[in-house]
Amino acid sequence: MSFETIFNLENKIAIVAGGSGGLGQKIVGGLMDFGAKTVIADIRSPRNLDTEFINTDVTNSASVKSMVKEVEAKHGRIDVLVNCAGINNRIPVLEFPEEEWDKILNINLKGTFLTCKEVGKVMVKQRYGRIINFGSVSSLLGHPYHSAYAASKGGVLLFTKVLAVELAKYNVTVNCIGPAYIETPLTSEYLKRGNNYDKIVSTIPMGRLGKPEDVVGAVIYFASDASAFTTGTLLLVDGGRTAD
Ligand SMILES: NC(=O)c1ccc[n+]([C@@H]2O[C@H](COP(=O)([O-])OP(=O)(O)OC[C@H]3O[C@@H](n4cnc5c(N)ncnc54)[C@H](O)[C@@H]3O)[C@@H](O)[C@H]2O)c1
Repeated sequence: MSFETIFNLENKIAIVAGGSGGLGQKIVGGLMDFGAKTVIADIRSPRNLDTEFINTDVTNSASVKSMVKEVEAKHGRIDVLVNCAGINNRIPVLEFPEEEWDKILNINLKGTFLTCKEVGKVMVKQRYGRIINFGSVSSLLGHPYHSAYAASKGGVLLFTKVLAVELAKYNVTVNCIGPAYIETPLTSEYLKRGNNYDKIVSTIPMGRLGKPEDVVGAVIYFASDASAFTTGTLLLVDGGRTAD
């Protein structure tokens, strides 16, 4: 038996929700390099990627349903779903505006639920699927001012585990990736303020922030046959942030 093709994604159809973002664009590039046909589902069109794009609001079930229907009609199947749409806002709990809480939970947690629900139905039908959700080190840690974000990411992790158990018998795996700080449009403003950058680097044993490309290997692993017997897990891509 040869393992040469263990990461091969040729003829696989992948949806990347949030695929126009800092991590999303690298993930799409990585999936395409391994042979997958990739569709970006985002509210913003991608800047410079030559791939299919369907304008999709992950918080809106009609929008998600119509995107999934369109991909299934065009490609006949959906093998991989990556959920990397997400937002954050850092505010102390006692001052957190209710609307802002709802917005963060809606995009990060409900959005993940809605895409998993609709794509999950297709994957169960075809008895094959790979779902990859984006948690964070905030799925595990209580950083101050991250209440809504941490609640959403803790929710994404536990949602991942429940869905993994429900879909295991259909050969659909569901896993979660948990990065530490990576410089993208999500974090760049915050990292520029005061000494935030140095403060955060000092919490990471590897002595640097993550780069968007650091998550690509984890996505390819979960998207491919290399992870065929791995479901309901969290893979931290955090330079050792949660190890000490
Ligand atoms: N960058 C980091 O440091 C970091 C760390 C841990 C986890 N994450 C997680 O990784 C994922 C990707 O983060 P990123 O850094 O690429 O962020 P980003 O801001 O660069 O990209 C997020 C993408 O989500 C899209 N999006 C927002 N609302 C949407 C909606 N309603 N429907 C569809 N798309 C929507 C945006 O248009 C954008 O393209 C997020 O879930 C984030 O929480 C990021």
